Amino acid sequence: CACVCVFGFEENWGSRLEVLRSAMVGGARSVRALLAAVRLQSGRGESIRAGRAAAAAGHAVWRRRSCCGVQVCANECAGPALGMATARDSARSARRLAQKLAMGAAALGSASMAAASVALCERASDAAEKEEREVRAGEVRDDLPTYALKDVAAHTSKEAGGIWVVYKRGVYDISEFIENHPGGAERIILAAGGSVEPFWSLYQQHYASFVHEILEELRIGNLSEADSDSLRSQQKETAVQAYLHEPARSDVLLVRSEKPFNAEPPPGLLVRSAITPIEHFYKRNHFPIPAPVQPEKYELEIALEQSSDLKHEPGATSPTRGAAHLSLERLRQYPKHSVTATLQCAGNRRTEMAQVRTVKGGAWDVSAIGTATWSGPRLADVLREEFGLTLESARQLGVKHVHFSGLDTDPATPSTHYAASVPVELALDPQNEAVLAYEMNGETLPLDHGFPLRAIIPGVVGARNVKWLESITLSATESNSHWQKLDYKGFAPNVDWDNVDYDAVPAIQELPVQSSICETFFLPAEEHSPRSIISRGFAWSGGGRGIIRVEVSADGGQTWHSAKISPPEQERNHVYAWTLWEASIPLSSDVAPGSDVDVVVKATDSSYNTQPESIAPIWNIRGVLNNAWHHVSVRV
Ligand code: MTE
Repeated sequence: CACVCVFGFEENWGSRLEVLRSAMVGGARSVRALLAAVRLQSGRGESIRAGRAAAAAGHAVWRRRSCCGVQVCANECAGPALGMATARDSARSARRLAQKLAMGAAALGSASMAAASVALCERASDAAEKEEREVRAGEVRDDLPTYALKDVAAHTSKEAGGIWVVYKRGVYDISEFIENHPGGAERIILAAGGSVEPFWSLYQQHYASFVHEILEELRIGNLSEADSDSLRSQQKETAVQAYLHEPARSDVLLVRSEKPFNAEPPPGLLVRSAITPIEHFYKRNHFPIPAPVQPEKYELEIALEQSSDLKHEPGATSPTRGAAHLSLERLRQYPKHSVTATLQCAGNRRTEMAQVRTVKGGAWDVSAIGTATWSGPRLADVLREEFGLTLESARQLGVKHVHFSGLDTDPATPSTHYAASVPVELALDPQNEAVLAYEMNGETLPLDHGFPLRAIIPGVVGARNVKWLESITLSATESNSHWQKLDYKGFAPNVDWDNVDYDAVPAIQELPVQSSICETFFLPAEEHSPRSIISRGFAWSGGGRGIIRVEVSADGGQTWHSAKISPPEQERNHVYAWTLWEASIPLSSDVAPGSDVDVVVKATDSSYNTQPESIAPIWNIRGVLNNAWHHVSVRV
């Protein structure tokens, strides 16, 4: 192949240029393999500089998707070697891109460049289409040998003759690939000698089609049918064993996934009271519920990370003790602080976002949110007493993040615990009211919500409020956990699975202003004059920003009515609990009986942030942070 270079806008281009060079020198098996090798380096497009360098070296330039880069492409990589192609786009969209490129080229006055680009693009898109049809990861291939599971299990290192894994009926040799695994060699090696599927079900980015393409490049054989069947039943058995500790739950919950258990209440239940009853509080679990610990045996470990990033030299306050191990009894000796705070999952209202464009993640309607009174010692008190650490001294030491790790683990890799972190001030500034909660709504913290102890960081996305708390680590850097680094991040609408750069986007902490309609009904003329729509719901904003206004519309947002709001009695900038609202909207006489009325809500927080009108501009691949105006249709 004579053409290569992928470009984009980024700093980290050098390493991929290297890959590009070595792939060219090594004669990559196909354009697709080459492109895959390039993408692997960080999952994003190559830099413009890489583009220039490749063009200068006499290679044509490949470009995946995105029309906005066309001009840049034409400007930066001028020359007969310029081309573009999309390995995965359909021939139609590839042609569309080619036309845009041709326009860019025409603007630069280079007809030959445009013609070359179009031809190249069409060739590439034909090839891509053909390959696309051929890539069916994990299907039986008659041209390859069949292996037993024991053969695969015998291949767990290069010394053992290679590192093999299984996906469906496919057997793959990943020995040469592991160093390029975007999630790190140490993660992929966990699947060595067995199936990758238990890992993929957790780390869903593997379901992107380009990952399947890369995997098929590594294909060496088929797994025997008998072993494939036994592997499946073994996986089912492991799942049964892992889920032995699930507690009883209310039947009214709308179950979004059984294993792990994820469920939300019907929205109408949320507006019955300002405090959500425990049985109606949404449950969001990534793993099976861990075996309940005996309260008298429980210990919370708190430690300063052993890292050269933290200062220990004279002048800086340094905790004298090593790790602290605190029993529940010890934690109960601290003054009990109660904070009423709303928790919301970042994926709340994902179902609506998925209607705009496919997203990855569990389906949630509007009720992955709830408000409870959480009680326990303030985190700031515990750290001051146990370590002599205040926010100020923590900063002097170089502590910037506080990590929380849970007792729950991934059944496929029991060393993987759920974990997350928050910036140090959210945890240590007493004003922020972070608590180590052993009670929820005045009751012992229930198993589903983190018994015996969970971190509550008011105003922060649910994901950072770690349940079944096992340890707290004070660190100079944020948690390396999957949920901190590779999930619960809000990407731009133009970011897709093949150009996502996790490091370019910060972890979600405070959530944006939100509101939803939970209940709405029609009062006809015989019951009420004028006929009206009655609507109730919640509004909330992250970071302790209270709700100052809620508006409701009964004509899709053309005219608005102020809702009656019931804000909690909490201090300015510490309004951690939601605001319930109620509105009565008279219907205009031109609304015909039997027609559907579009009821809409939007809220404004104390910083005058308000919700976006529509989802499309905030759409993102993981379907998080959906806070667009909420619509409900009511027949009148
Ligand atoms: N903590 C642990 N240990 N394990 C988890 O799976 N889920 C997080 C967070 N804390 C989770 C966790 C997420 S994503 C959310 S939204 C909240 O817990 C949900 O809390 P809840 O189940 O009490 O409603």
